[in-house]
Order: sequence, then structure tokens, then C-alpha cells
Amino acid sequence: MSHSRALDRPGRLVKNLAVSRSWVERDAAVVWHGFTQMAAYADNAPLVIDRAEGRELIDVDGRRYLDAISSLWVNTLGHHVPELDAALVAQTAKVAHSTMLGNGNTVVIELAEALAAVVPVDDPHFLFAADGAVAVEQALKIAFQYWVNRGDVGGGLSRGRGRGRSRFLALGDAYHGDTIGSLSLGDGGVFSAAFAPLCFPVVRTPGYADPGWAAKACAAIEAHGEELAAVVIEPLVQGASGMLCAEPADVRALGEACRAAGVLLICDEVATGFGRTGTLFASEQCGLRPDLLCLGKGITGGYLAMSATVASGRVFDAFLGPDLGPQTFFHGHSYGGNALAAAVALEHLRLFEAWGVLAAVQERAAQLSQLLSERVAGRAGVAAVRQRGLMVGVELAPPAPGLRWGRRVCAGAVERGVRPLGDVVVIMPPLTVTVPEIERIVDALDAALGEVLGESVGG
Ligand SMILES: Cc1ncc(COP(=O)(O)O)c(C=O)c1O
Repeated sequence: MSHSRALDRPGRLVKNLAVSRSWVERDAAVVWHGFTQMAAYADNAPLVIDRAEGRELIDVDGRRYLDAISSLWVNTLGHHVPELDAALVAQTAKVAHSTMLGNGNTVVIELAEALAAVVPVDDPHFLFAADGAVAVEQALKIAFQYWVNRGDVGGGLSRGRGRGRSRFLALGDAYHGDTIGSLSLGDGGVFSAAFAPLCFPVVRTPGYADPGWAAKACAAIEAHGEELAAVVIEPLVQGASGMLCAEPADVRALGEACRAAGVLLICDEVATGFGRTGTLFASEQCGLRPDLLCLGKGITGGYLAMSATVASGRVFDAFLGPDLGPQTFFHGHSYGGNALAAAVALEHLRLFEAWGVLAAVQERAAQLSQLLSERVAGRAGVAAVRQRGLMVGVELAPPAPGLRWGRRVCAGAVERGVRPLGDVVVIMPPLTVTVPEIERIVDALDAALGEVLGESVGG
């Protein structure tokens, strides 16, 4: 891979302001960016990306940025992968999309067969959609109707909502997406406060930041067992809340408590799935075989929008009955099981195996861990470094509130050609990240931290 100009002379390039300013103006005039205050958008020096190569994004000025957050955790093998490009082009010659409602498509069948061999779910069945939040939404509805079909909850069909197994248990600090159902499972906060009146209540026990989280969750499962439809977790890592990490044995204990109470377990692996934590799925490290598994993000290597809710045979069987009878799962999305996405996802799975991606993730994760412990952890201003595989959160400890250290460190890192994100500095590079690229990420973080800490000390 060619070295970038930004890398050669970090932070010293003068942008061709005219080009990027004109794109930012056009952008701000017509595009509404999610999780972004549009009144401030243009002033926050947004990157306008034009193309990409390997692990680098290239903006309209030709500047290169190492994609250290994998384009919001979706990219796995890098950008512009010839094999994935070819799979996409080949599928366009067949069919781009045909509906999955009541009909099939060859490449989607092939993908489901390939996934069935690797997901940690017994006798798996795949309901495809396009976004992670929708995979979660589908899992919620399936779990709810599972008990309806079994006669254990009213669900509006007979005994009325609120009786039997109709509630969900979710953890503190949880994030499962932005649709109303997934938002209800999420642990709120300022971003979703406005929607609180629309959300349904859940049984909430502490998240992974509390060392006693598992014991508390297990006790709640025992106490509420009879009324719970399902327990929903992000196994091993609560990503969006700042890479809060759990011990595999604790997650396993929660799975056992679900089994003992007869409650369904939903593992949301939208973020942790497809190799991020060092195994193909984090559930494997925790010894879990969930009843429902949510997949998204990395499923197509970051190429196309695809997600899936995976149901175990036991769950799936509860939906079998007379044609169009009440057991049917009346839910579906126009683009669920898109053939182009399926073709890329199928090739992506093949490459995972062929390239030995998981072994590489473990090696690079060890390298990153070593460098972070030498150069970042334990430094004044750094409260904690949390890591599972190639999912890393560096929690900063500003001396006073409101200093926006996270944002300033990230801005400094972007100047050096790396793009982390958020207040806890998140590092989540593509799984094919190289030895020098890991060094480049830590160099950028190190230098950006130095600047912010230095500024702060000097006032
Ligand atoms: C654990 C988890 N679940 C669900 C989602 C939502 O996925 P999407 O943004 O594709 O709707 C995310 C997104 O970050 C996530 O981290």
C-alpha cells in the first residue's frame, strides 16, 4: 500500500480549502447527517470522502485517512477488495434484487447455508433485513410471538398484553439501535431522551461497568423469570457505550440463568460479529448458543446494507402452522435478503477462511494491546484502556467536565490521518490492518493525547 502524504508529514498539509469547502457547502445544503447537529456540521471540519483504497479513505482533496473505526464498525477486510468487487459485479449480471416474501433467491439460499455452518445457533434459520436495528427489532417481535404461539402470553390475541412472558430484560449501558423497539432496549441517555414516552419499559439490570453485573442480572432473571420473553445482551463488549467489557464466564453464567428460567436469550452481535473480538462471534468465547442472534455491520465486509436475525430450530418451529394462520411471522422488509448484498456476504465468508483472518486479528490485537500498554495506558489523563480483540476503547479522564477531551484527541488523530470517534476514543480498525498501520494508529493517538494533555497542563 502506498504511504499517504498525510502520514509522511502529519498534520502539516494545507488543505485545498476551495475543493473541500465547496463539497461541504453542497453537503450541508441537502444532506441530513445522523447523530449530527446540522447547525454546526460545516464548522466541525467534516471529511468528504470520495474514494478508498485498502484501509484508507481518501477525501475530495486527495488526503488519506486510516479508517481506524472501520467506517463505523462495518468494514472488515478493507475497502475496494478486488474479490468482493468481483462478486458484486458478477451478481449484477444475474439479478440485483428479488423479494424474499414468499419467494426465494439462489444466492440468498447459498449465503444462509454458508452462515448456518458457522453461527453459534442450533439448527439456524435466517430472516434477512438491511440494518442492525432491524435485526434486533425482528428478534424482539419473534421472541414475543414465540410465547404467543406457545400460548404463554396474550400479545393482544387472547389474554392481553402484560400477562405471561411479555417483558424483556436488557442491561445498563446497552445500545441496540435507533428504531423504537431497539431504542427501548437501549439504556437511554441524552440521545434518546426525547423518545422516552414512545419506548416500552424493560427490566433493567446494570451493564458491564458494574463488576457485579452478572450476579445482578441472574438474580433478576430468577425473580422475573415467569414474565420474561427474552434477555437481550451484547455478548462480551458493550460497544457504543465505550467498549465496556465483560468476562466470558460472567456472560456464560447469564446464559445458564436464561436456560434455567426458560427465558429466550437474544445475543446482539451486530457490532461484535464477524471477527471483531478475535473469534467469528463473541458468543463462542462465552460458550453461548443463543435462541436468537442478531447480525449486521460486518456481514458484507462493510460493502452493502444487510442484517439478519438468526433463530434456533426450537424458536422457528413454534411459528409453523396452517398457511397464513396466526402462527405465521407477519413481518418483512422490501430489501431483506438483497441479492447483491448476499453475493458479497458469501464471498466475504469465503475470504475470511481463505485469508486466515481470525489468526491475523489475534496477532494484531496482541500487538495493539502491547503498544497501548506501553504508550497510552497509565498516562495522566487516561482512565482506562479496554480491549477485546480489535475492539478498543480508551477512556479519558479530563480534570474538569466540559473540556471535550475526547473530541479534541480525535480531532488531533484525524489531523494525523487516523479517524477514531467519540468521547471515549474508539479504535476499531479493519481486521486486515497491518503491523505498520497499528503503529500508525498508536502514534497518532499518542501524539494527539500529548497535545491535549500538554495544552491542558499549560492551561
Ligand atoms: C450492538 C449493536 N446493535 C445494533 C446496532 C444498530 O445497527 P444499525 O446502525 O445497523 O441499525 C448497533 C450499531 O452500532 C450496535 O452496536
